[in-house]
Amino acid sequence: MSQFSYIKEIAKYGLENDQEKLLAALNELIEHSKKTKKINFALQLQSLLKESIRQQQTSGLLKVDSPKHILREEDREVSEFIIEKLTSDYGFENLVCSNVVKEDLEFFVKEHKAIDLLKEYQLPISNKLLFHGPPGCGKTLAAYVLAGELEKMMIVINLGAIVSSKLGETSKNLAKIFRRAASEDCIIFIDEFDTLGKVRDYSQDHGEMKRVVNTILQLFDYLPQSSVVIAATNQKEMIDSALLRRFDMTVQLDLPNENQVKELVNNILKSGQFTFDNKKAADTIIKSALGLSYYSIQKALLATVKRSIFSQLEAKTVFVSKIDTKIWKGLIAQEKKSLKLG
Ligand SMILES: Nc1ncnc2c1ncn2[C@@H]1O[C@H](COP(=O)(O)OP(=O)(O)OP(=O)(O)O)[C@@H](O)[C@H]1O
Ligand SMILES: [Mg+2]
Repeated sequence: MSQFSYIKEIAKYGLENDQEKLLAALNELIEHSKKTKKINFALQLQSLLKESIRQQQTSGLLKVDSPKHILREEDREVSEFIIEKLTSDYGFENLVCSNVVKEDLEFFVKEHKAIDLLKEYQLPISNKLLFHGPPGCGKTLAAYVLAGELEKMMIVINLGAIVSSKLGETSKNLAKIFRRAASEDCIIFIDEFDTLGKVRDYSQDHGEMKRVVNTILQLFDYLPQSSVVIAATNQKEMIDSALLRRFDMTVQLDLPNENQVKELVNNILKSGQFTFDNKKAADTIIKSALGLSYYSIQKALLATVKRSIFSQLEAKTVFVSKIDTKIWKGLIAQEKKSLKLG
């Protein structure tokens, strides 16, 4: 059956209010989308379906202290701490990194795709991953890449909000989020994981800090094998050593070397729409960009492309899509100056 036939069926059963057939057709469309490689669409439909089933289970008149009421309450509380729930289209080709990092990440994905095989051999599956390194070097991007490669939904947690909002309830809120992610087979992404180390600053209560760290230790220890937790930080030294030890894999994402800057630039310009006006000057600028993050270099290059377009339009020259290396040189110097590198 084609996608359109499924959609027609879904519309028909929806209008006829035939819940059972509607769900069956929707499930068939999800399977069909998976088979035809529309993975993101399939995941989004699946999430809609789960969400709707959960709401049906908790809707209607409920006694205040019935378990169903608690479930709904939990959901409402938890959603405050979830920045977003997403599917990702990123793949390994989007991340520029060393071969060591690439191999580590590929291995991680391979392990999860072979989860059944590894279970047969009773081998543990690595599912706790920490990204660390300076800002703008791809920690958040790498998490998106893994979500894309693993074809899983990812819940991005706002640890700052959890820790600072209701002191004393941090542990409970974390446990709820972990439970929910496990039930929905999502990746949990805890960005700015070092926030945990800062609980000390939010309160004078050292006990709270210890409780939160203990909760995370327990959640990590009892994490189902198929769940994945990714954490990221640019201040690894702020993280409790017992927590650090729990990660199965620690991946350092560093500032780019010359080849990596070239790869980044090639990726950005891969459509072939824009080329440098002076290749040699561009190579010199690439060398001078060492010390800057991927993010800064990308930002300067994209700004250069835009400014080059405008200046060519203003000069009413024939539009040749040349990137003005003089502008790029200036912007890279500016980036370095703002970081006090130049
Ligand atoms: N290694 C990389 N390869 C390709 N692009 C990158 C890389 N690192 C950063 N970028 C670009 O810079 C943007 C910002 O990077 P990202 O948010 O992943 O940095 P981060 O390490 O998480 O920084 P922060 O510590 O500030 O959170 C990315 O969306 C991407 O466009
Ligand atoms: Mg980040």
